[in-house]
Parts: sequence; structure tokens; C-alpha cells
Amino acid sequence: MNSHPEINGERLLARLDMFAKIGATPGGGVNRQALTPGDREARALLTRLAKARSFSVFQDDAANLFIRMEGRDGSQPPLLIGSHLDSQPSGGRFDGALGTLTAFEVLESLADAGVEPERPVEVVAWTNEEGCRFAPGCMGSRAFVEGKIPAEWADLRASDDGARFEDERLSTIDALAADSSHRRLGFPVAAYLELHIEQGPSLESEEIPIGIVTGVQGTRWLEVAFEGQTAHAGTTALQYRRDPLKALTMGLSALYAGVMPENADARFTVGRIAVAPGSVNAIPATASCTIDLRHPETAVLDRLEDDIRSGLTEAAARENVSVAIRKTVDMEPVTFSSDMVAALQAAAQKAGLPTKTMISGAFHDALFVAGCAPSAMIFVPCRDGLSHNEAEYVKPEDSVTGARMFLASVLELLPRA
Ligand code: GLV
Ligand code: MN
Ligand code: MN
Repeated sequence: MNSHPEINGERLLARLDMFAKIGATPGGGVNRQALTPGDREARALLTRLAKARSFSVFQDDAANLFIRMEGRDGSQPPLLIGSHLDSQPSGGRFDGALGTLTAFEVLESLADAGVEPERPVEVVAWTNEEGCRFAPGCMGSRAFVEGKIPAEWADLRASDDGARFEDERLSTIDALAADSSHRRLGFPVAAYLELHIEQGPSLESEEIPIGIVTGVQGTRWLEVAFEGQTAHAGTTALQYRRDPLKALTMGLSALYAGVMPENADARFTVGRIAVAPGSVNAIPATASCTIDLRHPETAVLDRLEDDIRSGLTEAAARENVSVAIRKTVDMEPVTFSSDMVAALQAAAQKAGLPTKTMISGAFHDALFVAGCAPSAMIFVPCRDGLSHNEAEYVKPEDSVTGARMFLASVLELLPRA
């Protein structure tokens, strides 16, 4: 390496503003859900920025987008750095975008300093990390690690407009086909590093600028569908009712009272409920919901999942309705490579930055990439720990400090990876 690259903080902050305009919502956040026109626009902008710097751009069959800076030995597996550009429907401007744009800023700062790294460095924007428009989440990184698109994804439909995943995937790839080269899905990676906002309160409250993430807790998603009988609201007496919404609400109410109060580290969330036919004066025929369940230990997740299944089944029996429970996501808790964590600690020490080691409550693409390459993550504080919310906010100086830490970590990892 021949000179000392430095983060251009103004450039990074300007880029964050540029991307926040794509899919901007009136409340100051973004709605740029996976594979929508907004997501495609963000990918196209990143591609334009990459080409302006003469980096090469690739896409694979999962629509993962790669931007490559050549290394001295181009035959070496790249150091992969990045995050995602898709968002929640009512999302913030930093979740995913900060990590992707920080990785790109590092590539530019290496290029500005005339650095030719030992091995290639590639920025990646993974497809559909969020999982809200198409479940599961982290589709791009999961397909990358498996080396194929799972067959069951062909039938997936979008939660908002019913679009087919298969159609959306192909048109997203087509939209950038002229500006990128095609790559096969999955290739050897020397190491993977991702920066993200903490999405929790501890760094901000402890006034620590950098979190070094040692692992990610487990997540399970369930789709629950109660089915009863639609009937007249005014004429159907209690003993004749087969009300699926009553079963759902009574079942959930018991779970709200039990799961989190009894398990301080558990997270139990119902984010979507649907009732049909949805008439004011008819008992519903069906009532369904999603459940997001998290915990750092697999054994506890197993036990809580059993409790949820039996609680909902008993609620269905009490109301004389049926219930079907389908697991759509099962992400095992992951511990990151201790060598990677040690490299990040060394980088922070050289950069003079205080750190805190922590595990992530949110899932991230790094959880999957850890299945094929040593991986780790860096967190930066966000205001009030608030995320998946339009008001999500990261102080400019915290974004820039995170980028300095990220660059220091890349420089630490390049000779080690
Ligand atoms: C990621 O967005 C998560 O829900 O953890
Ligand atoms: Mn994210
Ligand atoms: Mn998110």
C-alpha cells in the first residue's frame, strides 16, 4: 500500500442525502421496498457512481449488485464490504443505506489515495434484506451462500401489490443489464464486513461511537391463519359463532402477557393482521397474522415456539375454529469469527476509537455470509435507538466516525484476509 487513504465525510453525507431522496416519505423516511421502482432507482444511482469512478459492476441471479476495485492479485478472493439498499415500508434513511454507502466511500477513498489493495475489494448491495415485501429476509445473501435461488421462491407474492418475486427479480436484473456484467451466484470471499446503525439504544446512551458486533440473535417468523365461519353479526348467538378473529385476539393476548414478561431477552412482535371478508356486520371467515420471535439461544427459541403453537391451537379449539401455523423464517443465532472481531478491535485501537462489543438484535446479511466466509459487523449509534421508523436518525459525526472505523478495519483486514 502506498499512501494513506482518508474518508471524505462531506461526500459520504451528501451521498446519504441523495439516496434518502429515492422513495422519500413525507415523514422524512424512505419507502424503498425490495425490487420496487425505488429500489431499482437506488441500484441504478450506485451503478452510475461506480462507473464514474471506473469500478466494474456485476449482478448475479439474485440481483445482488457488486462493485469491484481491482487488487494487485486479481485471482485472490475479494474482501467483500456492504449492506442493503431496500427499506421497510415506513423505514428510515440509514438502515442499510449507511452501510452500503460507507462501503462505497471506502472504495472511493482507496482510489483517491491511489491505493492498490493486495486483493480485490468489492462493495455489495444485497437483495431484499428487509423481508417485508417478500419473506424471508436476507434473500440475496442467503441465495449467494447456497449458490442457488431456492425453488420455493418462484411462487412468492409481494405483500403490498401481489407481484411475483420471480418477475420482480428478473425485471430488476434487466433494468441494469446494460450497465453491468452477469456473474454466477456465489463465489469465494476472503472475508465480509458490514456497517449498520445499532437500531437499539446502548451505544447512544453509553456515549460510545462504535459497536463491534460479535454475533446475531436468532429469528423465527410464523404465519398464522385461523379459519372459522362468516355469519350474520346480529343474528348469530354465542353458541353458534365460529369466530377466527376472537380466537386470534384471545390467543395473542395470552402470548403478549406471557412471552416477553417471562423472558427478558425474548422479542415477540405481531406486525401484520388481516381479516376477511372485513365487513362491519359479519363475523369474519378468516383471521391471520405474522409473528416475529427472537432470542439469542436456539433452545429458548424452540421452547417459545412450542408455547406459541400450543397457545394458538388451544385458542382455536376454544372458539371451534381451525388454525394453520407455517414457519417462513428460521435464522439460527450466529457467532462471528473471533479473528474478525480481533481485527476490528485492533483497527479501533489504531484509530483511537472507543468500542463496545455487543450482539445484534436485528438480523443482517452478515448472519448468512458468515456461513461461507469470516464475517463481522460494526455498529454506529442512532437517536433513541429508533429504527424501522421514518424518524430514524444518525448524527453526521457518528456516520463519519463509523466510516473512519470501517476504513481502518478494511486496512487491517486486507493483509490478514
Ligand atoms: C431486519 O431488518 C430485522 O428485522 O432484523
Ligand atoms: Mn438493515
Ligand atoms: Mn431493517
